[in-house]
Amino acid sequence: MKFSVINGLLALTAATSAAARQISVVNGCSFTVWPALFTDKRAGGGIPSQATGWIAPPSTRTTFTVPDNWKAGRIWGRRDCDFSKPGASSCLTGGCAGGLLCDPDTGTGAGPVTLTEFTFDGLSDWTDVSLVDGFNIPVRITNTGGCAVTECPVDLNPNCPPSLKGPFNASGGPVGCKSNCVATGDSASCCTGSHNTAATCPASGVAFYSYFKNACPRAIAFPYDESNTLITCPSSKKVDYTVTFCP
Ligand SMILES: *[C@@H]1O[C@H](CO)[C@@H](O)[C@H](O)[C@H]1NC(C)=O
Repeated sequence: MKFSVINGLLALTAATSAAARQISVVNGCSFTVWPALFTDKRAGGGIPSQATGWIAPPSTRTTFTVPDNWKAGRIWGRRDCDFSKPGASSCLTGGCAGGLLCDPDTGTGAGPVTLTEFTFDGLSDWTDVSLVDGFNIPVRITNTGGCAVTECPVDLNPNCPPSLKGPFNASGGPVGCKSNCVATGDSASCCTGSHNTAATCPASGVAFYSYFKNACPRAIAFPYDESNTLITCPSSKKVDYTVTFCP
């Protein structure tokens, strides 16, 4: 803050350097994860200077800052990547347009993928773990402000319903579990078409909803499943966050 006296009034002006939050991404998995970061520029918020993709060997931590007005951000993990293959197919799950670095305009994660989502709107920080596009890696978001934790800490791959299970790695192990929307495109599960409102897209119409919700009640299981899973923290607390894969 900078103080100045104008016409006898004390005026407060914001410092020129933008406020920032710290985010740490921890890989608690026994396997390498290639984390990825995407900012939806259409929201008009700030854009982190952190790379849009990096490698995280097991038991490593990467810490960076994001702007205080990161209005539409997401972080996720990619599995079994080989960047000699093009685009999203370079990783078995979570791949993006681009390579190690996801394309800043189109590089969202391909399902099945567990997403962590961040919306800092100036009043509140909204964070969630989303299974809307399915699941690939267990994840938890914690914060330094004593606000609620959001998570899907359970590995949903081994017991995934057969029609949703996969892709599979070289030894036949599942490395993803699709949502029914990703697997079939069914509008009642995707909340599209006539199902594009909360009223017309109830949980009862989303196939396999209970598989995801029972295992991970603190994650969003379908587009309108937001009431008890979007976690807020007051912006004034300026909290920092940790995203942990395989918590
Ligand atoms: C394949 O995935 C399973 C888990 O589904 C894992 O236990 C196994 O180590 C993986 N194999 C390879 C070759 O990556």
